[in-house]
Amino acid sequence: MYNTNKIVLSWYDSNKRILPWRESSDPYMIWISEVMLQQTQVNTVIPYYIRWIKNYPTIKSVAKADINSLLKLWEGLGYYSRCRNFHKASQIVEKKYNGNIPDEYSLFHELPGVGDYIAGAVMSIAYNKKYPAVDGNLNRVLSRYLGIKNLTKRNKLRIQNQIKKLIAYQRPGEINQALMDIGSLLCKPNEALCLKCPLIDNCKGYASGYPITYPLKNKRKSTPTKKFVAGFITNKNKILINKRKHDGLLGGLWELPITEISNNCSKMDAIKKYVKSKYGFSVNIINQFDNVKHSYSHYKLLVTLFMCELKHKRSEVGHWINIDEIDQYAFSKINHKLFDIIGVKNF
Ligand code: ADE
Repeated sequence: MYNTNKIVLSWYDSNKRILPWRESSDPYMIWISEVMLQQTQVNTVIPYYIRWIKNYPTIKSVAKADINSLLKLWEGLGYYSRCRNFHKASQIVEKKYNGNIPDEYSLFHELPGVGDYIAGAVMSIAYNKKYPAVDGNLNRVLSRYLGIKNLTKRNKLRIQNQIKKLIAYQRPGEINQALMDIGSLLCKPNEALCLKCPLIDNCKGYASGYPITYPLKNKRKSTPTKKFVAGFITNKNKILINKRKHDGLLGGLWELPITEISNNCSKMDAIKKYVKSKYGFSVNIINQFDNVKHSYSHYKLLVTLFMCELKHKRSEVGHWINIDEIDQYAFSKINHKLFDIIGVKNF
């Protein structure tokens, strides 16, 4: 394995992707980059990462920040619990560890939002410790290398052990990142550029002649579609928005009033009834827009949006904002799609 370690590092030195978080060895910067990268593609993360570091250059600045400002910077990245957990973790680091991010795996792993992957990535990249950081890319690369068809628990352990052997000599963080780059540049889900790969000599997938058949792909379960109605409710120049509860899906984000409906109900009645029961006032429907779709990991959303106005002007109930204040609040992707079909930006 010593030789493979050297070959992979030498490939990495000449072929690694130039990425902003690789310019720093600050554990805070590495940690926030890995949190952003955990469920999101590199190209999407880059501008978010740069903006975040500009606004919050230290872990202390995150700990002191208001969660709404952090969520605003996270707006559009998805999986917002990552942001809330990072905020909580930063405050624990400040209080319990005097602002120093623990360099011991088990202590770091206890922090909110830190699982095996993040712990392995931060320990290896920031602190040069010999822990694997196994994400989906690494599972694919190592499945091919080891000739693994099924990603069973036992086989995932074999993969971890193989990476441990690879990182046992030097520069563990860079080995982990080299494997990530091999996964995204060469050993891709539907294409394997084996002739450029530093792992070619001992790769069972390559030897089989059919590398991309490893590992077997999970058949994606089809996800259910949930139907919703939403209201763009105006009162003079203001619109009504609602803040989601802090725990749970999209927690702490803002949204237009929205509710799930059953298949056979009248959508117009549903939005009117919902507004009446939540806010206590009646609305007239002025317009119905085309349906808007959005996919989450476990279900799809189909939202019918209604432009509504208050039957009786004036209302103190609810959170009303001017349309040009929308940018000051963090909304989920589906809400931005709703704003787009209304053409809020040109209002
Ligand atoms: N994906 C997750 N972590 C990464 C890293 N450090 N570099 C590139 N891609 C990644």
